[in-house]
Amino acid sequence: RRRLAERIRDSIRTVPDFPRPGIAFLDLCPVFSQPDLLAALAGAMSDAFSGAFDRVLAVEARGFVVGTAVARHAGRPLVLARKSGKLPGPVESVRYDLEYGSAELQIQRDALRPGERVIVVDDVLATGGTMAAAGELVRRSGAAVAGCAVVVTIPGLGGERRLGAEKVFSVLPTGN
Ligand code: PRP
Ligand code: MG
Repeated sequence: RRRLAERIRDSIRTVPDFPRPGIAFLDLCPVFSQPDLLAALAGAMSDAFSGAFDRVLAVEARGFVVGTAVARHAGRPLVLARKSGKLPGPVESVRYDLEYGSAELQIQRDALRPGERVIVVDDVLATGGTMAAAGELVRRSGAAVAGCAVVVTIPGLGGERRLGAEKVFSVLPTGN
């Protein structure tokens, strides 16, 4: 586990002032480009919940990469949370705030069944707005959030606080 975190930390590229001045962009493409590292990451996320989940909900767009790897590793069905207008209906929608303005995530109404345990997978947890919206989609479908898994949590932006009751697994920073 420690080795995994170190390998991931060493593989992430932090790009200053992208996509806008003042934003430090975390580029995980070098993580995704290493098949063994992506597989180990998927295994760690699945293990964090002891495989005790029925489906994996992956969040567009970068969460698709990680979520697909987790679903494949765990042998669980993959469900996509997409940005507005991408999924044929009927869909469930939740709006969430961005730094400027807002966005909307959707899932198909028949994608989750009542009572199912779902883990929500994304690459980065920052303010938690995206993850909270995805969790709300799960609950609206009558399913339960068994946990949230991300590669990196950016400390100090309130993401973990915002997710409050939910179990959050994050590979980085270490110690959580
Ligand atoms: C990024 C990142 C997370 C989210 C985290 O996605 O991939 O999904 O922001 O931020 P938050 O915790 O403050 O909500 P983004 O919507 O920028 O674009 P993407 O489609 O490239 O994943
Ligand atoms: Mg994203």
